[in-house]
Amino acid sequence: MKTDLLAAIDAAATLDALEAVRVQGLGKQGSVTALLKTLGGMSPDERQVQGPRIQGLREAVTTAIATRKAALDRAELDARLASETLDMTLPADAAPHGSVHPVSQVMDELAEIFADLGFAVATGPEIEDQWHNFTALNMPESHPARAMHDTFYLNAVEGEEAKVLRTHTSPVQIRTMMSQEPPIRIIAPGRVYRSDWDATHTPMFHQIEGLVIDKGITLGHLKWTLETFLKAFFERDDIVLRLRPSYFPFTEPSAEVDVGYTTVKGRRTLGGSEGWMELLGSGMVHPKVIEACGLDPKEWQGFAFGVGVDRLAMLKYGMDDLRPFFEGDARWLKHYGFSA
Ligand code: PHE
Repeated sequence: MKTDLLAAIDAAATLDALEAVRVQGLGKQGSVTALLKTLGGMSPDERQVQGPRIQGLREAVTTAIATRKAALDRAELDARLASETLDMTLPADAAPHGSVHPVSQVMDELAEIFADLGFAVATGPEIEDQWHNFTALNMPESHPARAMHDTFYLNAVEGEEAKVLRTHTSPVQIRTMMSQEPPIRIIAPGRVYRSDWDATHTPMFHQIEGLVIDKGITLGHLKWTLETFLKAFFERDDIVLRLRPSYFPFTEPSAEVDVGYTTVKGRRTLGGSEGWMELLGSGMVHPKVIEACGLDPKEWQGFAFGVGVDRLAMLKYGMDDLRPFFEGDARWLKHYGFSA
């Protein structure tokens, strides 16, 4: 029996065949198992002789099966390695993957900075009516400022005034004041549109509007807020601001805000006040605007500002052309460190 079993084990060509032989010998109904069972019926003398023989047989069969199994496993692996052409040890090609766009990055950073200052995020439609985009912002129909904006007008629906692509995020000031009770502290990030095209102007660009409406708000609050936000955004404590008197129909007084720069190794670097770069428009919300939104300007005052997000990104990351922002060229993103 021993030679038969060992021969069958050696002859097993597959793991399945080997398992069948194992069951034949060592399984519940197996021949070796049956022999082991006969030990119980033997006389002690006989058992002393047969016991070690039968145990030896079982051990021999068990060892032979293990040896054969190892050989079959190895053969199977060799066969697989020979037939598979994929070399799993080769490094994989890096698949290109996306990254956050500088504009989104800056918007996220601004939202975070202003959240720390207690500002919520507000939004409004990009297709806007003229009342929100102009009239309520103290730009009546005849107002020359309407022409200044290079507005895109949509075809008018019968009997309705033509809608516009909003030329700035300021209409969100109106929408917020009309729908929320003061005190108000919001920023409104979004796309705006003007018919303009050169290295620093694209027909679509991004702004963030800021609006605070409360009691006893002054220009001092505006300046502190802008200073705090710009220091946090540019991660420099030496940011210096200059408020230059200006004009916007919806603020009075109005101020253009410049940020100081210093020339370091021939490059303009923000910080210090060797020269000035125009950065954003701002001012105290005009009483007429507060009134247009149904609030009493004697009770409520506030400040507003509007800043170009793309411009902030250009300054922060040292980019000198706005157009590639909207061309979707991955090499450009990579050049400025934006691809992961
Ligand atoms: N809306 C103005 C612009 O787009 C910027 C601005 C916003 C100015 C708020 C003052 C107050 O030019």
